[in-house]
Amino acid sequence: MSIFDVAVWKEGKVRMMDQRALPHEEIYLEFTSAQEVAQAIRSMVVRGAPAIGCAAAFGMAVEAFRLAAQGRPDSWPLAMAEGIAHLRESRPTAINLAWAIERLRPLLEGGDPDQVPERLLREAEAIRQEDIASCRAMGRLGADILPLSANRSISLLTHCNAGALATAGYGTALGVIRAATQRFAQVKVYASETRPYLQGARLTAWELLKDGIDTTLITDNMAGHLISRGMVEAVVVGADRVAANGDAANKIGTYPLSVLAQRHRIPFLVVCPLSTIDLATTTGADIPIEERPAEEVTHCLGRRTAAQGVQVFNPAFDVTPAELITALVTERAVVHAPNTEKVAALFHGLPGHPGR
Ligand code: MRU
Repeated sequence: MSIFDVAVWKEGKVRMMDQRALPHEEIYLEFTSAQEVAQAIRSMVVRGAPAIGCAAAFGMAVEAFRLAAQGRPDSWPLAMAEGIAHLRESRPTAINLAWAIERLRPLLEGGDPDQVPERLLREAEAIRQEDIASCRAMGRLGADILPLSANRSISLLTHCNAGALATAGYGTALGVIRAATQRFAQVKVYASETRPYLQGARLTAWELLKDGIDTTLITDNMAGHLISRGMVEAVVVGADRVAANGDAANKIGTYPLSVLAQRHRIPFLVVCPLSTIDLATTTGADIPIEERPAEEVTHCLGRRTAAQGVQVFNPAFDVTPAELITALVTERAVVHAPNTEKVAALFHGLPGHPGR
C-alpha cells in the first residue's frame, strides 16, 4: 500500500504533503507554528476529517516547542490559547479537528510544565497511530458486510476522497475498498469527480491507481445513470461529522447518492472512526456547514467558467439522514440502520463514557 506523509512529525517540524498539487506533483511542506498549520488546513494543503485532526494535534505540539524555545511560559493554557484558536477556527464541519484539540488540551496542565511539548507530541503521535489502526479495523469490518466472493466482481461507488490522503493512512471508505481488494481481486471502483474541488478526480483516482485498484472516474451527475443501470452494488463514503442520531455530514453531493441508493435498493455505507462521531451534536441539522469561496464554483483550472456577476452558493458538505444509511462502519463495530441508541452504544465502556 502506498504511504504518504499526510501529517507527520519530522525533525521538530510538521511535515505535510501539499494535496493542492496533486495529481501533478508530490510536494512536501513543513510548518513551525500553530498559525501556519491552521493556514495549511484552511487552504487545503491537508484535508479530510481524520487528517486535519492529526494535523491540528501536531500543530499544537509544534506551537508548544516554538513557545518553549522562547522560554517556558508561566501558563501553558494562556500561551497556547491563540494558536489553539487559530487551529480550531480553520475548518468548522469536521469534528476531528476539535476532538484532537480537546484530547491534547488537558496535557497543558498538571505534571512537569517543562515536559508539555513532549507530552503533546507523544499524544499527537498516538492519535496518528490510532487512526491508522482504526482505518485498518474499519476496512476489515466494512469488507465483512460487502457481498464479496472469489468468483465474482463487485462494483462500488465512492465520493470525494476518504482515503489514505484523508486520514493518517489507509483510509476509511477507501480502507474498506482496499480490504476488499486484498480479499478478492475483482473490485471495480467508480470515483465521482466531486465538484467543485475535485477530490475524487485529483485525489481518489490518484491514490487508488497508485495501488493498482481498478478505478473509473465519473462526473457527479452520472451517478444516477450508473446506479439505475445496476452498475453499482454499494455506495461507500466517509464522514466529516456524525451526529448523535446517526445523521452524517460528508462532502457536498453525498446526500443525493444516499437517495439514489435507497431508490435502487443498494447498500449505502458510511465509514468513519469514533473520533468523527460527535455525541454533543444532536442531529444533522445542528452540524455547521462550511461555505467555501465562490471562485471554486465560478472557475475551473484557474479560468472563469461562470457568467460575470452571477451569485454563488458553495456549501462544502451536506447531511445524509440516518434513515438513509444502511450501515455505519466504525473501528469498534458496524451499526446497521443507525439511530441515537445504537450510536450511543458504540461508546459504552470507553473512557469518559458510561459503561453498559
Ligand atoms: O473538504 P474535504 O476535502 O476536507 O472533505 C473531505 C470529505 O468530505 C471526506 O469524505 C471526509 O472528510 C471523510 S475523510 C476519511
